[in-house]
Amino acid sequence: MHWPVNPQTRHNPTLLMQAEVQSIEHVFRQRFGREPALVAEAPGRVNLIGEHTDYNDGFVLPVAINRTIAAAAALAEGNTVRVFSAEFDARDEWGVAAPRRTGRREWRDYVRGVAWALLDAGYELRGVDLAIAGDVPLESGLSSSAALEVAVAGAFCAASGIEMDPGRLALVCQKAENQFVGVQSGMMDQLAAAWSRAGHALLIDCRSLELDYVPLPGDVAIIVVDSKMRRPLGETAYNQRRQECAAAAPALGVESLRNAAVSDIERLPEPLKRRARHVIFENQRVLEAVDALRSSNVARLGELMYQSHASLRDDFEVSTPELDLLVELASRAEGLIGARLTGAGFGGCTVNLVARDAVARFEAGVVEPYRAKTGLAAEMFVCHAVDGLRVSRA
Ligand code: GLA
Repeated sequence: MHWPVNPQTRHNPTLLMQAEVQSIEHVFRQRFGREPALVAEAPGRVNLIGEHTDYNDGFVLPVAINRTIAAAAALAEGNTVRVFSAEFDARDEWGVAAPRRTGRREWRDYVRGVAWALLDAGYELRGVDLAIAGDVPLESGLSSSAALEVAVAGAFCAASGIEMDPGRLALVCQKAENQFVGVQSGMMDQLAAAWSRAGHALLIDCRSLELDYVPLPGDVAIIVVDSKMRRPLGETAYNQRRQECAAAAPALGVESLRNAAVSDIERLPEPLKRRARHVIFENQRVLEAVDALRSSNVARLGELMYQSHASLRDDFEVSTPELDLLVELASRAEGLIGARLTGAGFGGCTVNLVARDAVARFEAGVVEPYRAKTGLAAEMFVCHAVDGLRVSRA
């Protein structure tokens, strides 16, 4: 895996091409003057369908993508953790048993938070040197935070001799984000970063944590478009939506909206009624999407994606005019099967299902008109479905 090491160039495609591209091992060597003992690598994700359902005990269908974050590590003498982030060209250091919050919700808090959550779960950690680099775009709805957490957790565990199954590791990372960083994310992103399988979407039942791998069709491409309007999750109405869902469930006499029926929601006040309606139908759409994929009915999957977007726009109110424009342009483009916003919303990316033979025309049909209309330098990339967390020893 290779990434540009100069953070100035990270999200600028032109500079990116000119940048010196180096491996995570090289970053580690340059920083710490020795060889790493292991590399843990975790992917970002795009969610095909099932949005704002994970924290309602519902269903999600993410795909891990070929944008990853890697952490190279080697045991250090003593009990100090030393970290270098190539992304931010910044370092951190703390005594392994006592990670503390910076109070600024920055990258250091995610790394320290993972150590805190592992310690809190009763694991013993050893001092390590850690170098981190990656190419998951930040704050764009592709789960760079979860990829960072899962890669760091994989590195800490491997270095300290801790064996943990990927599901448990993902939940430890979610706890780090919820309780240490203070962002109330659900569990989808960490589970996708830890548990995914190449060539497949990952169906997760967030109530039972049962999962199923659903093969993706070979003649269809997944294209992500970054609207270039971005807001960190901690600064959006994400927590407010969670609270609304948490208020709607007891008002309907159910433990979570997973158990609510659409015939019951009439008695809810607005906006809770619309929030609940989104969650109830979105769960149904995920299961229908899985059936559509299994029966090679991609046209049906496309319809479900458009319906999901409309519901996120009108009922859940997490879309933006930019995301709506991208989806509208996609709905008129040739070879487009389906499109919707992906992730929390409030900016970030859309996910598009495109017939392989129409991929070459996608930029002219969707991205260029978007750039012309908004003046925003939207970027697109064609994704492959990759494996979740991989740890390799040098
Ligand atoms: C963010 C959260 C996830 C999930 C999505 C919305 O990505 O981290 O847990 O709630 O939003 O589906």
